[in-house]
Parts: sequence; C-alpha cells; structure tokens
Amino acid sequence: MSALVVANPLRENRDWPAPPAEIAAFHRRMPAYSPTLLLDAPDLARQLGVGRLLIKAETRRMGLPSFKILGASWATYQAICSHLGHEPEHWANINELATNLAHLRPFKLATATDGNHGRAVAFMARLLGFQAHIFVPEGMAPARIKAMQAEGATVTVIHGDYDDAVARAGEEAGDVCLVVSDTSWPGYETIPAQVIEGYTTIFAEVDDAIDASDLEHPDLVVVPMGVGAFMSAAVTHYRSGSHRPMIVGVEPLDANCVQASAVAGDISHVPGPHRSIMVGLNCGRPSMVAWPRLASGIDWFVSVDDDAARQAMRDLAGSSVVAGETGAAALAGLEALLADADTSAAIPDLSEKTVLVIVTEGATDPAAYQSIVGKSHNQIGRVLTAIR
Ligand SMILES: Cc1ncc(COP(=O)(O)O)c(C=O)c1O
Repeated sequence: MSALVVANPLRENRDWPAPPAEIAAFHRRMPAYSPTLLLDAPDLARQLGVGRLLIKAETRRMGLPSFKILGASWATYQAICSHLGHEPEHWANINELATNLAHLRPFKLATATDGNHGRAVAFMARLLGFQAHIFVPEGMAPARIKAMQAEGATVTVIHGDYDDAVARAGEEAGDVCLVVSDTSWPGYETIPAQVIEGYTTIFAEVDDAIDASDLEHPDLVVVPMGVGAFMSAAVTHYRSGSHRPMIVGVEPLDANCVQASAVAGDISHVPGPHRSIMVGLNCGRPSMVAWPRLASGIDWFVSVDDDAARQAMRDLAGSSVVAGETGAAALAGLEALLADADTSAAIPDLSEKTVLVIVTEGATDPAAYQSIVGKSHNQIGRVLTAIR
C-alpha cells in the first residue's frame, strides 16, 4: 500500500460563520429523517493505538446509502425558493411541499454525479413530483446507474470523466430545469454553497450525541474529499464553534486535487483518468466555493491507494460497519496517517485522544462489496455501541 501525507501549507487560524440555524429544522421535515448512528469502535481504536474511535455511520440516511441527501435536499429547497421568489406556503411534510409546488410541473432537476449525489437529487425530484436528468461519467458501475433509474431519473452517460459530466449537466439550466450541482464554477456558486450548508447537519448531530453522553468531543476528525464540498461543511462546523479539532482530508492518490491545490497555493487540476475504486472521490478539481475553507481549515492531507480502501472496508466490516469503497476512505486515511513514520512526530500522540471518522456510504455496489470483504453486506451484523 502506498500513501502520501502532507501538512497543509495554507492552514490559517480563522473563524468561519456558523451555518444557518434553519437547516436542522428543514431536515427534520424530510421523510424518515433521524440522526444517523454515532458508534464507538473500541477494538479498532486499540488496533490503531488511538484513545477512542468514533464512527459516524452515514450508511443509511433517509433510506439512501449515503449522506448526500442532506445537501441535495436543502439546496433543492433553497433553489426552488429563489426560483419562486418566495418560500412555498407553510408545509409540514414533503407531501404538502410537493402539493404546493405542483403548479411548477413539468419541472426538472439536473446534475452530474459519480453516484451518490445524483441518486439523492433523483430521490428529491421523485418526492417533489419532478423529473430528474442525471449525467454520469463513463465506467460507472451498473448498480449505481440502476439505483438512480429506480428513482425515476433519466441517466445519460457522458463519454468523459466526472468534470466532463459536470460541464454537460450545467447546460441543462433553464426556465423549467434547476441544476442542483454539488460542485461550483464561475457564476454558479449559490446552490453548491447550499449543498455544503446541508451537510453540516451531520456534524451538528455528532455534537448533540456527544453532548448527551459522557464522551469527549473529537481531537481529530477524518473526512473523505472529492470536490471538497463535504469537507467544507466539516470546516464550517469545526472552525465556527467552540470545539476545534485537527482536521484530516483523505483523497485517492491519483485524484488528490485538494492536496495538489494546497501545495500549488491555489485551485489546481489533477488530470485523469481517475480510476480509483473510491469513485465518489474521483474528482480532478476542488469546488470553487469550497476552496477557501479547504485551504484554511484542513491540517493534514492524506492520499491513499485502492488497497488501503479495501483494507479499511474489511476492518470496518470486522467492527460490524458496512462501508463501501468511498465510505471507507476516511478510515484508510487514518490508518495511513498513523502508519506514516515521517509525520508521527508532527501529529500529536493520539493514544489518549478521541478520533472521529466519517463513513460516508454503505455498500453502494453490493457485488463489489462482497468480492472485497468476502461476505455480503447483509451478513454484517451490528455489534458496536451506538452513542445515540
Ligand atoms: C460517499 C461519498 N463520500 C464522500 C464524497 C466526497 O464529497 P465531496 O465531493 O463533497 O468532497 C462523495 C462524493 O460524491 C461521496 O459520494
């Protein structure tokens, strides 16, 4: 296994504004909303030599196998409000919202995706009675395409990579189509910023669960990065409140665009092909709106190879957490960080510290999961202690 660990040369001690308070209330009105589990993983903690290992398991979120619906739902709602020029009439649940918005139909949501965000946008479109058009890079696993089609979406495969799919999806914007992208480009910044806001619910839930227990808030938080929108939410949360852990961002070795940008001093492109099995992280360019938070807020970058992701999937399965390839990336990054002889002197001793790892997806490609872990995801039972 090979890995690259780099301290962020752009790190600054700066505060960011806290996210809007209405986000949590919005999410509570989404169907099947409940906080995802925060798990205590003592065996893995011992194996890694950290004091306590907490795992926030985003493996089932409102019935979907990743966290992405938090950003897609909030950003879609905000985009609709600005399309209408006002908030829809009072609604208590999503069916009432769909009824209030029925006059917009036929109406469409479009986006590019490498899997989970597109599925979340398709899910949101279905809930609202809208159509969805999702653009995907070539080579996407059929299971991921089928999952979007099962939400009623039209899926178009672009002959190119994720960045090409983003460019194509952007062309769909019009009077009856909103583009709900999780990445940004010049002139398209508001919706991706709202996607980031939506993700902050995860970290608010972590705080709530810890506050309701006798545990310590984390000293180190490990987050996977594609375009960096999710990490930007982590920085928003942990650089605005009173708990200020060190933050580690994890990327695939051949798509480590956030690390490369930090080293170059500004947003840079890491050319493809990006062929990591951590498909949600196969991005060549950080999101523009995420970048200022990424540049200032991250402490360490860790780039890992696919073997590290496979090992982390097995390690998580051994602790009864079902994590897909992308979902296991944060643990892979933590394992690489702790194994890195050069940095062990520079990172604080974690043997009595609390580390939080975000597992961002479940088994989104069940066949691949079985071949890597040696068991079906259905055979993994839950034995870890849920903090909440
Ligand atoms: C499961 C999963 N984890 C992490 C990420 C990374 O998120 P971001 O692209 O916002 O950095 C993605 C992105 O698609 C994802 O699907």
